[in-house]
Amino acid sequence: MSRKRHAFVGTGGRALSFIDPLVTAYGERHELVALCDLSPARMAYYNKVLVRDLGHPAVPTYTADRFDAMLRERTPDEVFVATQDSTHHEYIVRALNAGCDVITEKPMTTDAAKCREIMAAVEASGRRLRVAFNYRWGPFRSRVKELLQRGAVGSIHSVNLEYLLDTHHGADYFRRWHAQIENSGSLLVHKSTHHFDLVNWWLDAIPRQVFAYGDLAFYGRENAIARGDEKFTRYPRYTGVPEARDDPFCLDLSESEPFRELYLAGEADSGYVRDRNVFREGITIPDQMSVNVRYRTGELLTYSLVCYSPREGMRVAFNGDRGRIEYQEFVGSHMNRAVRPGDWSSEEAPCGEAEGEWIRVYPHFGESYEVPMPADVAQGPHGGADAILNAHFYGPEAAPDALGRTAGHEQGAASIAIGIAAVESIRTNRPVDISDLVPLAPDARHLSELA
Ligand SMILES: NC(=O)c1ccc[n+]([C@@H]2O[C@H](COP(=O)([O-])OP(=O)(O)OC[C@H]3O[C@@H](n4cnc5c(N)ncnc54)[C@H](O)[C@@H]3O)[C@@H](O)[C@H]2O)c1
Repeated sequence: MSRKRHAFVGTGGRALSFIDPLVTAYGERHELVALCDLSPARMAYYNKVLVRDLGHPAVPTYTADRFDAMLRERTPDEVFVATQDSTHHEYIVRALNAGCDVITEKPMTTDAAKCREIMAAVEASGRRLRVAFNYRWGPFRSRVKELLQRGAVGSIHSVNLEYLLDTHHGADYFRRWHAQIENSGSLLVHKSTHHFDLVNWWLDAIPRQVFAYGDLAFYGRENAIARGDEKFTRYPRYTGVPEARDDPFCLDLSESEPFRELYLAGEADSGYVRDRNVFREGITIPDQMSVNVRYRTGELLTYSLVCYSPREGMRVAFNGDRGRIEYQEFVGSHMNRAVRPGDWSSEEAPCGEAEGEWIRVYPHFGESYEVPMPADVAQGPHGGADAILNAHFYGPEAAPDALGRTAGHEQGAASIAIGIAAVESIRTNRPVDISDLVPLAPDARHLSELA
């Protein structure tokens, strides 16, 4: 049996999470045929890890300007896109047009025009595009979906979702390319795409209208100076700066092999500086955001994201006409591989305030109860979600997933559309209709009707 051929574009901190299982656990049926990135140094490190740690031969590498040559010469069946968000559409569209299927990291893209371009390319090519929404695959989140599907608290009319990013993980976005809205679409797209997708999927609903506020309240030079932290603003980056040693926001790229080889070594060939001062000038994304969403089926979502919290986690509440479900997750920072010094194999940072993950059902006029979960649940990166997602991507084709966890391009669009509309709402101080930005099957009412 010939193996399915995979190429990856974007060899930063994230792609290894998919390449490692592809060439090890799933290597019998799948083959890694090429890597592509702006940075030859980063690709060289991936090849080093492949050979040294994963027992796999080095694969051909292509710089970004040779992506089309890679498609011609290496003939992948599927391309995995894990580049900076604002560039996803370029590779998605070119790979689809070349006859490949595509998996893209979230967010599918960063603005409405790019989103429409992707939707048109999927339609024209007839190829499949999937979005790697790993959050859906977390065991607790799947259990929440089951409860909602079987009407444990009746019909849901409103949802509250509060997400806290801490001063490790949250701060990290302000060191990197994410801090420029043109690169990430802001965290309302880059990060909240996970949360909006969860709510869309949990409710099986399509968002209709969005209103939002957003401020830069903590990061940036001006905010630091205003609260008396001018001393943290004195250097443009952290690595190699003795003065930054005692700065709690310091990230020293010389401290671990992945940092040195992916990012320090890749600075000269890509211009990407990974450890910029979070209290510099020129940050163009908000760090606290508040969003209201109305769904086509009538439900309301009240959402908030704060990026400078002392603890990281999520609280969600579903208000139904037979009761309420509360789900909370405080398990630590979801740090990307190669975000922290040290081991490149684990993504969960320890969290001193971790209370764990639980789901509780509060029926009207009844006793509340905690929903039991198997004791061994939630192992591994992203609460076990990455491993389940990889099994879905690379395992044998199974029957359609009963929980509908596979997300195609339209569901990918439904999620980013909320963030893109929220950015527009903040800019104009008005509610924004999603249909004015992204055409999503106008007659459909439920997310499961979308590809
Ligand atoms: N689902 C998750 O939990 C999760 C976690 C982390 C990252 N991600 C996603 O994965 C993607 C990569 O994130 P990361 O943390 O690895 O970022 P990173 O900054 O470590 O790596 C980004 C890579 O993209 C490359 N790149 C940038 N512009 C390019 C271009 N025009 N052409 C080719 N390559 C280009 C860079 O050189 C770099 O190697 C992002 O889209 C991010 O949203 C998802």
